[in-house]
Amino acid sequence: MSVEFYRHQLGEAEAVEWRKVLEGAFLTLGPQVAAFERALGEYLVRGRESQAAPHVVGTNSCSMGLLLALRALDVGEGDEVITTPMTFASTTNAILLAGATPVLVDVEPATGLIDPARVEAAATKRTKAIMPVHLYGQLADMRALVDIARRHNLRIIEDSAHGIEIERDGVRPGELSDAAVFSFYATKNMTCGDGGAVVTKNSDVADRLRRLRNHGVSKSASDRHGGTYQHWDLIELGYKANLTDLDASLLRVQLPKAEEKRAARESIVKRYELELLRRVPALREASPQGVPGLIERRGRGSHHLFTIHAPPAKRDALLTHLGKRGIGTAVNYRAIHLLTYLQDRLHLPRGTFPIAEEIGDRTISIPMFPTLSESAQDEVIEAVAQGFTAS
Ligand SMILES: Cc1ncc(COP(=O)(O)O)c(C=O)c1O
Repeated sequence: MSVEFYRHQLGEAEAVEWRKVLEGAFLTLGPQVAAFERALGEYLVRGRESQAAPHVVGTNSCSMGLLLALRALDVGEGDEVITTPMTFASTTNAILLAGATPVLVDVEPATGLIDPARVEAAATKRTKAIMPVHLYGQLADMRALVDIARRHNLRIIEDSAHGIEIERDGVRPGELSDAAVFSFYATKNMTCGDGGAVVTKNSDVADRLRRLRNHGVSKSASDRHGGTYQHWDLIELGYKANLTDLDASLLRVQLPKAEEKRAARESIVKRYELELLRRVPALREASPQGVPGLIERRGRGSHHLFTIHAPPAKRDALLTHLGKRGIGTAVNYRAIHLLTYLQDRLHLPRGTFPIAEEIGDRTISIPMFPTLSESAQDEVIEAVAQGFTAS
């Protein structure tokens, strides 16, 4: 591959901390997990001295974090959860695994984010929660969603897999909602291979999340460590879904670098935008439905993914062209209601969510990570420009 889609930046500093964990007694649910959770909570209120840090519960993935959050908020059988078709399968999987029904609503053409007006229109007596997705690391319109949630007495669980760094209208993940869930999967801005975290301001919800991530038992092994033996009890049906100390040690080292890495990605975004709009005039035009060539930015993004929108008839040819040139790509995402399982389960034919479908038919994610060199960026820009004119 000439330009990889993503390259992690884990190095010696992370390896040193990881080795220290190996030398200690606790490999999981021990002091590293607790320290990372504290540090992430503090990061989320950085620069806001008067604000208390939220509770953070480390998990083995965002997917499991979403499921735990639904369970901890008593969302399940008979409940509807409003979410977006422009997301990864985990979002709807979590809702279905909790026993609830995902109710999809279309997205805004300019951003691909869930459209609050459509959320409002989809709320019924059975609706229990809204699960917005902060696509590509841009916060959905949380102020509008919170307003709707208050009027309809709904919970909000944010799928914030694409960023911890994000802010819009003065709102950060987990600030106005019942819970927000992050991913530390292999291609995420901060990673330990697989990992996640749930953030909540509510201490009862946090306690329940801690129990649910650990089978549903009353005490973890580290709670029971030292002193005399204490019996534990199984309080409710839970999962094995905790973060490990090995993984937390990797995340702890990366957290203080989050802002610097975001700034590096932002410079790449600016360069990509400038050069791509200059080289590919078609990207300056929006489609009849209002889907632009490059999505519009809202607030302070994490810049997790950089996507371009090609004409639907040319998208797959462009993917092939970039692949042949050795440029890594991804599709984030094809509208999820069109995927086989959800077709069988939800019966939402093509045409139901025209904007998400159009984005899904057009979108290509190109390489984006802080250490992507200018020459590699140029290679990507050149290949995209060539592909647009050739195809
Ligand atoms: C929008 C979204 N939600 C949830 C997830 C699931 O994250 P994880 O792989 O940590 O379970 C992803 C992962 O890519 C995602 O992109």
